[in-house]
Amino acid sequence: MNIKKLEKWYIDNHIRFPFRETTEPYNVWVSEIMLQQTKLETVLPYYERFLLLYPDVYALAKATDDELKKCVEGIGYYRRFKYMKKAAEVIVDEYHGKFPTTYEDVLSLPGVGLYTAGAIMSIAYNEPHHAVDGNVIRILSRQYNLQEDMRLEKHKNSIRDMNQKLIDRANPNQFTQALMDLGRNICKPKNPLCDVCPIADTCQAYELGIQSTLPFMSKLKALKEIDYIVLIIHTKEGIVLRKRTESLLEGMFEYPQFESESLIHILDDLNDQNVTVEPISDEIIKTHVFTHQKWHMHIYECRLIGSGMLDEWQVFQSHEIHQLPMAIAHRKIKKWKD
Ligand code: ADE
Repeated sequence: MNIKKLEKWYIDNHIRFPFRETTEPYNVWVSEIMLQQTKLETVLPYYERFLLLYPDVYALAKATDDELKKCVEGIGYYRRFKYMKKAAEVIVDEYHGKFPTTYEDVLSLPGVGLYTAGAIMSIAYNEPHHAVDGNVIRILSRQYNLQEDMRLEKHKNSIRDMNQKLIDRANPNQFTQALMDLGRNICKPKNPLCDVCPIADTCQAYELGIQSTLPFMSKLKALKEIDYIVLIIHTKEGIVLRKRTESLLEGMFEYPQFESESLIHILDDLNDQNVTVEPISDEIIKTHVFTHQKWHMHIYECRLIGSGMLDEWQVFQSHEIHQLPMAIAHRKIKKWKD
């Protein structure tokens, strides 16, 4: 691979995203954590808002859980922001608020894995450390016609080794970001734009005409489909919500929901716990797809009869609900007036 050609292409063609206006490691970290699992167009407004609210590690370390969740509501994969707050606390406590500067220290931060550590070191500090994500796996698989199953860690590791050898000879900041741009805009999963690729001349898959078949990834397990009965329960004081304790969407509010397809069974179960709920609407069905789960939500508006409630239930006035961090799957169920 001609590294110089790739870097020149990057210099001539890259878009000046807000996160490219600085090499401040805190900002690079924020953008890399967001970009890891979320599309660039989606990330941009979140990135700007996040930095306004939390301009440095001190601000982030002081953030309350609810305020932080509210700030990133809708972007998905909330756990990463919990880790970011933990990491900010570590940086304040153990590094006097200064972002760590060595690969080992960066990698040891909560929520920072090999990719993020490599991206921060190469982009913020211009130091050669591999940052291998799906883009890099695709580009190198095609460049070198690697036919192995890239779902397997041992094969990802060989790509990391190859990427390290390349970045050792490169300008790390430009090289890492060039690969990201190339992967997103040119060496795309489907219909790659090989005609305008700056490194097509060394691409073995292109030469063989098999670029669209690489990388090879064995099939993932199927989506788990789950049926929920979702109850929008009206009480005299307001609407019932619960705060999730499950690892998926932990800490987000939701309407009480129960894994079942049968409203009658759920109402009977609640009755057994001295909670009387009466449906006042027909069923509405909505679905929401997560990475590994698809929720089929069978939604009913209900009225609470008497005062019996489950311990984990909390009542909010309807105008308060839009300010709470709420799982998007449930946020989209119903709009409450301010
Ligand atoms: N994706 C992840 N990090 C990126 C970056 N720094 N530039 C462009 N795309 C990215």
